[in-house]
Amino acid sequence: MTLGTGRAVSMTDEEFRLIRDLICDYCGIYFTESFKFLIERRLQPRLPVFGFVGFRDYYRLIKYGRDRELEFDEIVERVTTNETYFFREAYQLNALMDEVLPLVKEGGRSGRRLRIWSAGCSTGEEPYSVAMMLEDASAARGLAFDIFGNDISRKVLRTARAGVYTQASFRATSKEMLARHFVADGRTYRLADRIRNQVSFGHLNLVDGSALALLAPVDVILCRNVMIYFDPASRQRLIETFHRKLRPGGFLLLGHAESLINESTAFELWPLKNDMVYRKPEGSAPGPTP
Ligand SMILES: C[S@@+](CC[C@H](N)C(=O)[O-])C[C@H]1O[C@@H](n2cnc3c(N)ncnc32)[C@H](O)[C@@H]1O
Repeated sequence: MTLGTGRAVSMTDEEFRLIRDLICDYCGIYFTESFKFLIERRLQPRLPVFGFVGFRDYYRLIKYGRDRELEFDEIVERVTTNETYFFREAYQLNALMDEVLPLVKEGGRSGRRLRIWSAGCSTGEEPYSVAMMLEDASAARGLAFDIFGNDISRKVLRTARAGVYTQASFRATSKEMLARHFVADGRTYRLADRIRNQVSFGHLNLVDGSALALLAPVDVILCRNVMIYFDPASRQRLIETFHRKLRPGGFLLLGHAESLINESTAFELWPLKNDMVYRKPEGSAPGPTP
C-alpha cells in the first residue's frame, strides 16, 4: 500500500513491538527486531483491506477489534514458517519405530490404541511419514494406532487433508516409498487412501490452554521445529502441557536443533542409539483425563 506518493507505508519501531507482542501472546511465535521488515512486508497488504493508512490502526484492530480472532487467522497464514517434508530427520523416526515403540508398547495396557500426536504438523508430511513407517515396523505388528496432527494454520491443514504433494515434499523419500504410497498425477503425487485414512487433522493453537485441555492422553508427541520460533515463556508452558498430556512412560520428540537443556522440566532425558529424546517418568501421575 502506498500513500499516493508511491512510497509503501512503513512500520515504526514502536508499532513493530506492539504488533510483535500481540502475535506472540496469540500464538507463541516471537520475532526479534531483525524481523521488522519481514513483518511490515507481510502485513502491509492488510491495511487497504480496512482502509487504514498506518499500522497504528491495524494494531488497534488486532488488540480491541470485535473480529480480532479472524484477523489473527490471516496473520498466522502470513507469518508462520511451514517448511516440512516426508521422512524429515529420518534417524529420529527410525528410532521411534525401533527403540521408542517397543517401550511404549510395553507400558500400554494390552488392546488399547496407541496415540501419536504431531503437534505443529504443517502440511501433514510428519504424521503421514509415521503412518507409512508403522506399516513396516515390527514393533507395531498387532497394535492399533491413532495418529493425529494439529496446526494453527488452516491453509496447511487443507493440504494435509487433501494428501496431494509436489516434488519439494520428497527430498528425503526413497523411490521405493514413493512408488509404494503415492500415485503420480501430472506434477503432483497423491497419497494412497490407505495411509491418508490413518491420520486425522485438527486446527489447534498450541498456546490455547482451554483447547488443549480437551485432548485425551497420548503415548508419543512429536513437536519438531515448532518451539524454535516461540518465546521462552510460551515454550515453557507448552513443555508443561506436553508433560500433562503424555501418559506415564510416554515420549516427547523434538527437532534436532532443539533441547530442553535450558528449561526446568519434569521430563527425563532418554538416550537412544543415535538420538536423545524425552520421557515422562513411569512413576509420574497420569495427566487429567478429558
Ligand atoms: C516448520 S513447521 C514444522 C513441521 C513439522 N513438525 C516438521 O518438523 O517438519 C512449524 C509448524 O508449526 C506451526 N505452528 C506455529 N505456531 C503454532 C501454534 N501456536 N499452534 C499450532 N501450530 C503452530 C506452524 O503453522 C507450522 O506449520
